[in-house]
Amino acid sequence: MKAIVYEKYGGPEVLQLKEIEKPIPKENEVLIKVKAVSINPYEWHFMRGKPWFMRLSASGLFKPKNKIRILGNDVAGYVEAVGSAVKEFKSGDEVWAESDFGSLAEYVCASANKTISKPNNCTLEEAACLPIAGITALQSLRDDGQLKAGQEVLINGASGGVGTFAVQIAKALGAQVTGVCSGRNLDLVRSLGANRVIDYTKEKVTQNGQTYDLVVDNVGNLSVKTCKRLLKPGGLGVIVGYQSVPHLIAVGLRGKTQHSKVAYMSAKTTREDLLFLKQLIEEGKLQPIIDRKYPLEKTAEAMAYLEGGHAPGKVIITV
Ligand SMILES: NC(=O)c1ccc[n+]([C@@H]2O[C@H](COP(=O)([O-])OP(=O)(O)OC[C@H]3O[C@@H](n4cnc5c(N)ncnc54)[C@H](OP(=O)(O)O)[C@@H]3O)[C@@H](O)[C@H]2O)c1
Repeated sequence: MKAIVYEKYGGPEVLQLKEIEKPIPKENEVLIKVKAVSINPYEWHFMRGKPWFMRLSASGLFKPKNKIRILGNDVAGYVEAVGSAVKEFKSGDEVWAESDFGSLAEYVCASANKTISKPNNCTLEEAACLPIAGITALQSLRDDGQLKAGQEVLINGASGGVGTFAVQIAKALGAQVTGVCSGRNLDLVRSLGANRVIDYTKEKVTQNGQTYDLVVDNVGNLSVKTCKRLLKPGGLGVIVGYQSVPHLIAVGLRGKTQHSKVAYMSAKTTREDLLFLKQLIEEGKLQPIIDRKYPLEKTAEAMAYLEGGHAPGKVIITV
């Protein structure tokens, strides 16, 4: 089968389309014939091997370890085969999943526990957008952010992969949403339900003096001091996006005070939350936004575009 592999760390030029062996599902796995994959900054962090500390824990110190040589996590497609212990799915079922084995390929295995049947009111391409960005948006608001109905939330980076889900999920949770993006994406963010929008190219987020119960920073460019200024007493700041190690250290050292707390979050995909996202889609409360689609052989081009940091919504690879 064809797959996007990388044998060394670097820019999109390290990605190669290669012929490799088709995987065989283990007992608790589902083999998916891939139709669509959504790409995330997570993947280009692995591609580049940056930040460096990632190499210690997961990806290999000097070059990528075998198990992550195929890039990609989010996937949607058709069940091709199932492991002996999997009873929920059969060949031909339409599913979406988060895979640990590299989804930028014609076939990928995913744990049955992280494989979900497609919502009946969206396409496979839309379903492929959900796993990493949808889970991150949900957990940043509901879990790390403890967002309650009626509260005020500021979402920085409201037009990106995570942000477009976060605006809609915050509305579904009953919050009042202020979204921050550039002028060209104001209408998009409004259309997703934001009550107010701030064009960061024209106005500082602190300029209007408004304070919030929750600030979610998907960009990672708000200093700890700015976050605290934006928070009401008892408010929470959730740092989702990463820009530099010194910023993470500053969050760790100075994030907590008597009056507010700013902390970095780390999303963890669970079956319950994947099902929660599916339910929101089926209730018409969540709509994945697809910015661009590229064929598998143009993955390097897609990754370069995503790395630019200005995609409105999700970038999809079709297989
Ligand atoms: N902590 C976790 O567990 C976790 C999980 C998933 C992702 N992440 C991180 O979350 C971040 C966001 O991911 P993503 O998928 O949403 O990325 P993305 O899709 O690449 O985000 C692009 C968006 O960011 C907006 N943006 C760029 N500069 C901005 C600025 N100065 N102010 C406000 N908005 C700005 C852009 O809007 P404009 O074009 O309008 O500027 C664009 O729509 C990444 O750093 C990713 O690594 C963390």
